[in-house]
Amino acid sequence: MLGDRLSKRMKHLSRWARRRGIACFRLYDRDIPDHPIVIDWYGGEDPDEGGDAVVWFHQRTRDETEQATRDYQASTCTTIRERLRLPSDRLFVKRRARQRDEGGGRAQYQKLDSRRVLRVVPEHGARFEVNLSDYLDVGLFLDQRPNRLAVRDRAEGRRVLNLFAYTGSFSVQARLGGASRTTTVDLSRTYLDWYRRNLGLNGLDLDEHHRAVQADCLDWLEQGPEPGEAYDLVVCDPPTFSNSKRMRSDSFAIERDHAHLLDRVARFVAPGGEVLFSTNARGFDLPPQAVPSGFGCREITHRSVPEDFRNRTIHRCWRLAEGWTPRARPAPSERTGGT
Ligand SMILES: C[S@@+](CC[C@H](N)C(=O)[O-])C[C@H]1O[C@@H](n2cnc3c(N)ncnc32)[C@H](O)[C@@H]1O
Repeated sequence: MLGDRLSKRMKHLSRWARRRGIACFRLYDRDIPDHPIVIDWYGGEDPDEGGDAVVWFHQRTRDETEQATRDYQASTCTTIRERLRLPSDRLFVKRRARQRDEGGGRAQYQKLDSRRVLRVVPEHGARFEVNLSDYLDVGLFLDQRPNRLAVRDRAEGRRVLNLFAYTGSFSVQARLGGASRTTTVDLSRTYLDWYRRNLGLNGLDLDEHHRAVQADCLDWLEQGPEPGEAYDLVVCDPPTFSNSKRMRSDSFAIERDHAHLLDRVARFVAPGGEVLFSTNARGFDLPPQAVPSGFGCREITHRSVPEDFRNRTIHRCWRLAEGWTPRARPAPSERTGGT
């Protein structure tokens, strides 16, 4: 079943992707309950060179012993390689578990390997570096693809702030969309260096209008904005939880801190500006009272989760717009023309 499913999806998605100028997509997303795995496909710039697959294993309840788990994973990898006609060095295996680092934080960003298997992948005319071997994630969140394109389409002549920026893929698309100014903030030097390499892949670099800031976003937002500093478009995609030692504040937890975060972000938004607020936190909902005053808010998850993702709540996303108030619904009498 798994093999048939992979062949069918690969046939459909590789055609679908080519038509859209993308080469990376979510191939399998726990479609069959007995196979709770996730597989992403990373195609290169030259389709004839084939691609790579990354499989994330989630714990299966029925595998009671370590041996059973190993056997299941080994046979599943064989099926994936056979059906996708992949040599063994082009299938990358990861295990996603509710890992916590010593401080209780998610170990999502810890280094797992140093083989540095890098690829350059195309996405809507942009080029990004992915690292298939060394981390749990590869440096490009595929579920944010439509949002990246939306940022590109709205960036012309605008000032863009990208918070919790990771490898800066949103900023790259904003630059390619003609952003006049970009500020890209992340806590991690490793990721900001990666951002710089992503810029280089697209013939771009940092300069006095386009800067990268290594900082604790919460602290950076608290300190600012500088006089005259304002943005027309802010991307805010915080982690679910963060307690990195480099943070000024103890920790950040989206359930607890989202309202304060948005309140601080609002101070950086220019009149008529907007905020793209996204989270992968399971079960999170943005309550109306957390929307900063003077901002309107609309959920856009239905169009921000790409169609290759079966999990329609892989993330939730809202667009907050300064000075925008939802048009008042006409009173029943008005609606029916006063009868
Ligand atoms: C979910 S990722 C953001 C993904 C990014 N928006 C994208 O689409 O590529 C969260 C990022 O937040 C960064 N981070 C975590 N805590 C932070 C903090 N307090 N200040 C700044 N960055 C932080 C991590 O290094 C990681 O790059």
